[in-house]
Parts: sequence; C-alpha cells; structure tokens
Amino acid sequence: MPMYSGKVMDHFMNPRNVGEIKDADGIGEVGNPVCGDMMTFFIKVKDNRLEDVKFQTFGCGAAVAVSSMTSEMAKGKTLEEAVKITPSLVAQELEGLPKNKYHCSNLGAQALQKAIRDYAQKKGITIEGLEEEKGEGDEEGE
Ligand code: FES
Repeated sequence: MPMYSGKVMDHFMNPRNVGEIKDADGIGEVGNPVCGDMMTFFIKVKDNRLEDVKFQTFGCGAAVAVSSMTSEMAKGKTLEEAVKITPSLVAQELEGLPKNKYHCSNLGAQALQKAIRDYAQKKGITIEGLEEEKGEGDEEGE
C-alpha cells in the first residue's frame, strides 16, 4: 500500500469541483497512455479570471486527488496566474505523492493548461506564460 498524505486521502475521498461545465469557455482533456487514465478540465472565465473550474477524472486515486487540488488552486486566479500552476506545485500542496505516482500529478496541471489554451485559441488571445502545446505522453515526469 503506497503511503499517501492525509491531504491526498481527503481530496480523494471528498473531491472538490467534480463535474462538467456545460457552457465552458475552455476544455482540456489529457490521458496517460500507460495507465489509460483520463482527465478533463472545464473552465469558465470572467474578466480574465477563472470564475469556475470543474473536472472529470477517470483514473486512480492520486489522479482524482490531483485534479481536485488543481481545481481548487486554479479557481479565482487570473489566467496568467493559473498557467503557473505546475505539477510539482500541485504535489507540494498535496504534501507529496509516492514516487511511482508522479505521472498522475502531471495530468492535473496539463489538463488545466490545455483548457486555458483552448480558451486562448478560441478568443485569439495570448496569455503570458502559457506554454506551446507539447506532444502528449512525452513527459513522463521523473
Ligand atoms: Fe494513471 Fe494515476 S495511475 S493517473
């Protein structure tokens, strides 16, 4: 049994912001080809801020906890602030993840970034700090 922090367990048992935003301004879907887990983030943007963030995750417990934490960290942030949320920041907020679960922690920030990129593309805007799209599955974490 891997060692999970209390925070991971809490977000796994009571995930925040689960669901779908029907009229989302941006949607980002990522998957991990190795384990087959999938994660989708939905964002609602108002005055350059993430007014609402929801997610659907079909994945392991760590992936659920990571998406829940990512959504909480992102909510209320400006787009420029939200793109700075990295997998390692999410893992830190969760008080760490077992080493073999790092790839799960990448998915949350990736899906969020993708949703923001989707929004930016639709609006034809550029967001400072937003990375170019990377090929999927070529970041395996360490
Ligand atoms: Fe795949 Fe966790 S095992 S996301």
